[in-house]
Parts: sequence; structure tokens; C-alpha cells
Amino acid sequence: MVNAVEWRNGKVFILDQRLLPLEIKYIECTDYRVVAEAIKNLSIRGAPAIGIASAMGVALSAQDQNTSYFDGFYRFIKKVMDTMISTRPTAVNIEWAMKRLDKLLIDNADKDVNTLKRLLYEEAMLIHREDIEANLKIGQYGAEFIKDGDTILTHCNAGSLATGGYGTATAPMIIAKQQGKKIKVIADETRPVLQGARLTAWELMQNDIDATLITDNSAGWLMKQGMIDMAIVGTDRTTLNGDVANKIGTYTVAVLCKEHNIPFYVAAPISSIDFNMSSGDMIRIEQRDPEEVAYIQGQRIAPEGVKIFNYAFDVTPARYVTAFFTEKGVFKPEELRGIRI
Ligand code: MRU
Repeated sequence: MVNAVEWRNGKVFILDQRLLPLEIKYIECTDYRVVAEAIKNLSIRGAPAIGIASAMGVALSAQDQNTSYFDGFYRFIKKVMDTMISTRPTAVNIEWAMKRLDKLLIDNADKDVNTLKRLLYEEAMLIHREDIEANLKIGQYGAEFIKDGDTILTHCNAGSLATGGYGTATAPMIIAKQQGKKIKVIADETRPVLQGARLTAWELMQNDIDATLITDNSAGWLMKQGMIDMAIVGTDRTTLNGDVANKIGTYTVAVLCKEHNIPFYVAAPISSIDFNMSSGDMIRIEQRDPEEVAYIQGQRIAPEGVKIFNYAFDVTPARYVTAFFTEKGVFKPEELRGIRI
């Protein structure tokens, strides 16, 4: 399993996912601005992974601060945090990680700056380790819902490249396979930047899981023919009422599942649940460069001057979600409010 992000010898290394599956190359980051740019340009993507990377970016930025006064140090770190939060607005994990680091600094404002630098580094590493553990638990809970012989549909990439460990949506698949269940996974290609084709299909094959790639518009037809037993997807931000922001096209999959009576599961670490938002209407949906739609791998496919919508995410209303697989157990949408953090 390759790591999406690593801390080595005082530097952050980010796997450049734009090059996958053709090339495995890490971006060496010695400056937090390089980390922020890598998040923005999708070198690293996936809600938990960008939460981890942004925390490492903050720890990195702290390293070469010379001031010995808390106020100056804190002001600088807040600026770095704002930069991280501005990279991608929909996934809650960056905000969540920044709030954690912010609280750490406030709680330790009486300590010297060198201690604060160490604490920031340790917290970033802890955020990474906790995500690995959460993935494992999500996998164990989710695998109980997978039967021998099941075919699972997934959308986008919610695998190890999007997280610190086994992934969220892919963790139940990996554990089910380890349990000896014979499963098949169908991956939507996920236009416009093809996370399903380039990343999920590749990761599933690395894990020796029977993987089939389909175009995004094939899912309904496969469901109609009884070829799909369940869908499992990840989430970038789930609100308290159970509304799920995830990669554009997830809503379509959920509606199709409802029509065909197929369970639709969302695999979500607690870090992806926004306990401050009561409904999905409050979520800011990122709109990305229209060129992502107009070009495929550098080749223009749409006429010059055509208008383009490029919403990166959509929101699936809670009523379409059968259950959430989290590290704290399995919850129906209406039960999320009861989770104690
Ligand atoms: O634009 P991306 O590639 O960052 O979108 C990622 C997704 O939508 C994933 O499904 C989501 O972050 C869940 S990742 C465990």
C-alpha cells in the first residue's frame, strides 16, 4: 500500500496522484505553501488525506519560526491555517484538523515556542495514526454488511489514497476479502478527473480485489439488471441530519439505489461529520476550473467557448442513506446526533 502523505526527516512528502496510475512520484515539501498548492491542485485529495496533509503542513511551517514569543508564533500559525482552509472548501477535515491544532496552541499558550513546535508535530502524527485506526474499524463494522458473492458499487476514490490507511469506502471491501468472502467491486470512472478510473481501479487491483470499471452513466443500467448488491461511498462533509456531501455524481447513485431497492452506505470517519452544520443546505460546494471538463489528459474535447459547470461535489439527502459505517459503529442518519465525540 502506498502512502498518500508521509513525514520524513522534517519534510512532508506528498504522492502526486495526478500522475497515477502511470507514475509513482512524491512531491518533497519543505514549505507549507507547497503543501497548500498540492491540496489545491489535487496532487493529494480525499477528505481525510487533505486533513492529515494540512496538519503536517502547519507542523512544517512552525519548524523554521525564529520568534520566541507566543503572540507572533500564534499569529503566523493562524495565517498558515487560513491558507490551508482556503485550499478546498467542501471537505470538513481541513477545518477539523486546524481547529484541533488551534486548540492545542491555545491550551499550551504558557509553553515556550520550541515546545509548541514539538506539540504541533506530535498532533499531526496523531491525526494520521487515528485515521489509520478509524479506517480499520470502519472496515470491520462495514464488512459485516457484505455477504459472500456480493457486488459493490463505489464512486470516486475513498481508498487509501484518500485517507491515512485502508480508506473509508474501500476498508469494508478489504476486510471482507480478508475474511474470505468473494466480492466484486464496480468503480464509477468519476468524471471529470477520473479518480475512479485512475485511483480506485488501481488500488482495488493492488489489493487483489475483483474490480470492474464503468462509465458514470452505466450504474443505473447495471442496477436494473440486478448486477449490484450495494453501494458504498465516502463523504467530504456529512451534516448532523445525515445529509452527505461527496464527489459529484454520488447523489445520482443514491437516487438510483433507492429506485432499485439497493442499500446505499456511507463510510465516514467522525472527522468527516460536521457537528456544527444542521443540514446539507449549509455546505459550500466547490466549483473547479472548467478546463477540468473541457480537457481529458491534456487533450481538448469540448468546443472553445462552450459554457461549463464543474461542481466538484453534490449533496445526497439523508433519506437516501441506508446507514453510515463509522469507527464508532453503524448509524442510521437520524442517529448521528447521538454520537458522543
Ligand atoms: O475531489 P476529491 O478527489 O478530493 O473528492 C474526494 C471524494 O469525494 C471522496 O469520495 C471523499 O473525500 C471521501 S474520501 C475517504
